[in-house]
Amino acid sequence: MGEKHKGIPHRLRGVELERWTVQRLLKWTEEYLRGKGLASPRLEGEQLVAHLLGVNRLDLYLDPHRPLHPEELATFKGMVKRRIKGEPLQYITGKQGFWKHEFVVNPRVLIPRRESEVLVQVTLETLRDWDAPLILDVGTGSGCLIISILADLPNAVGIAADISLDALRIAKKNAAHIKVTDRLALVQGDLLAPFKEEAFHAIISNPPYVAEEEWNSLPKEVRGYEPSHALKGGKGGLFYLNALVSKAWRHLLPNGFLALEIGWQQRHKVEDLFEGKPYTGVSFFPDLEGRDRVVLARRR
Ligand SMILES: C[S@@+](CC[C@H](N)C(=O)[O-])C[C@H]1O[C@@H](n2cnc3c(N)ncnc32)[C@H](O)[C@@H]1O
Repeated sequence: MGEKHKGIPHRLRGVELERWTVQRLLKWTEEYLRGKGLASPRLEGEQLVAHLLGVNRLDLYLDPHRPLHPEELATFKGMVKRRIKGEPLQYITGKQGFWKHEFVVNPRVLIPRRESEVLVQVTLETLRDWDAPLILDVGTGSGCLIISILADLPNAVGIAADISLDALRIAKKNAAHIKVTDRLALVQGDLLAPFKEEAFHAIISNPPYVAEEEWNSLPKEVRGYEPSHALKGGKGGLFYLNALVSKAWRHLLPNGFLALEIGWQQRHKVEDLFEGKPYTGVSFFPDLEGRDRVVLARRR
């Protein structure tokens, strides 16, 4: 936007003869983001322009000649600047699609990941035979896992727990948008500490599991912008996985199960965590790339 005027004194720049329309802005953004090395410049451009105008991506093509006002262009410039500095698109637009819904996000919560849909799918399939399951989601973040599950299982009831109050605020918003508020309780606390005698049909979690040693090899977009307490899992990334495997069985009803998302290289270490503990049928489930991303085990 205005790049072609570089070097010309401001007072001589004259009048912009070509109007900024949606179509022109999309084209400009795509070229600009491509030039900055972004992998999906068209898609990201569409998402940014759609967010600016408060419409869906498809709507942009239904009204391509809609003119843009100077204030809109100024706001847009700010959004593009943030993006090329490396801020994730989802924190700029404030949303991310996951499973069947759109979730509100902000920099206090992890952006829901495509691979976490494996945990939703496995949990739904395993719960199919229960009438009215009670499900606990530990480290709920945006609430994407438990809210997706409750939305698909109208008789299920859930508890979303997190150590972060900021995360619970976002989960509450998402529960309201997706209309599961009346079946979801929010609880703040450290892992399973808030639960004394309570037992569940299923305990699910996508805990922080990035190994300390691997932190520096994560993309800058993740390290610099997403909450580190949502990602860092100590040595080998096993701190929270180990704590959950060690403690969850006490809070499982007969035949109840624990299902956890794990890092794609952690299968063997995670298998060891179940050794000697009262679980049975420890099974792993792959993501679309065929990498083991979910472990499920029933209480013995
Ligand atoms: C990897 S994120 C998962 C967020 C969300 N469930 C998802 O799948 O996108 C881990 C979450 O665990 C929470 N967390 C970290 N330490 C915790 C603890 N000791 N007790 C409970 N939650 C914790 C973080 O606040 C974060 O929301």
